[in-house]
Amino acid sequence: MKKIAVFASGNGSNFQVIAEQFSVEFVFSDHRDAYVLKRAETLGVAAHTFELKEFDNKAAYEEAIVALLDKHEIDLVVLAGYMKIVANTLLSAYEGRIINIHPAYLPEFPGAHGIEDAWRAGVPESGVTVHWVDSGIDTGQIIKQVRVPRLPDDTLESFEARIHEAEYALYPEVLESLGVVKRD
Ligand code: GRF
Repeated sequence: MKKIAVFASGNGSNFQVIAEQFSVEFVFSDHRDAYVLKRAETLGVAAHTFELKEFDNKAAYEEAIVALLDKHEIDLVVLAGYMKIVANTLLSAYEGRIINIHPAYLPEFPGAHGIEDAWRAGVPESGVTVHWVDSGIDTGQIIKQVRVPRLPDDTLESFEARIHEAEYALYPEVLESLGVVKRD
C-alpha cells in the first residue's frame, strides 16, 4: 500500500479532507503553532514538526525531513499548503514522489497568492491544479486541474470558498488516481 505524508504550514483544511478519506502516515508542519496540528490530534494522525530556524541552514532542515520520510518509508509526499519552496536536498531525494496543490489554473497565477492574484486580475474563471513538484515555483508537470468560475456577485471570500471546495474534491481524486488506497 502506498504510504503518504502530508505537509502543511497553517490551517490544514486540505489535510483534513485527505485524512478523512485516506490513511495518512503522518503530517509534517514547519510551524509548531500551526492549526493543522490540532486537526491531526483530533483525527488521530501522527504529527511531526520542526522549524527551519532550529537548523543551521535549509539543507540541514531538509535532511531532517528526508530522514523522517525514509524512516517511515513514505512513497508519496503530499504538499497541502506547505509554504516553503522545496529545495535541492529534499527534491533530489524525493523527486517524482512529491505533489502539490495550487489554488489557480497553472500556469496562470503561480506563487503564494494564486487566489488573490486571479481575483485582482478580474478573470472570469480561475481554477485549481495538482502538479508534480520540481525545482521551480508551481512549474512541475500538471497531473490534473479544474476550472472554477468567478460569479458576478462573488466577493473575494465567496470566490475563495469555491476554490477551496474544488481543492477538496480534486486532491482526493488525484490521490486515488495515483494508487493511494481509500480507507473504508
Ligand atoms: C490551499 O489553498 C492550497 O492550494 C495552497 O494553500 C492553501 C492551504 O489551505 N497551497 P489549507 O491549509 O489546506 O486550509
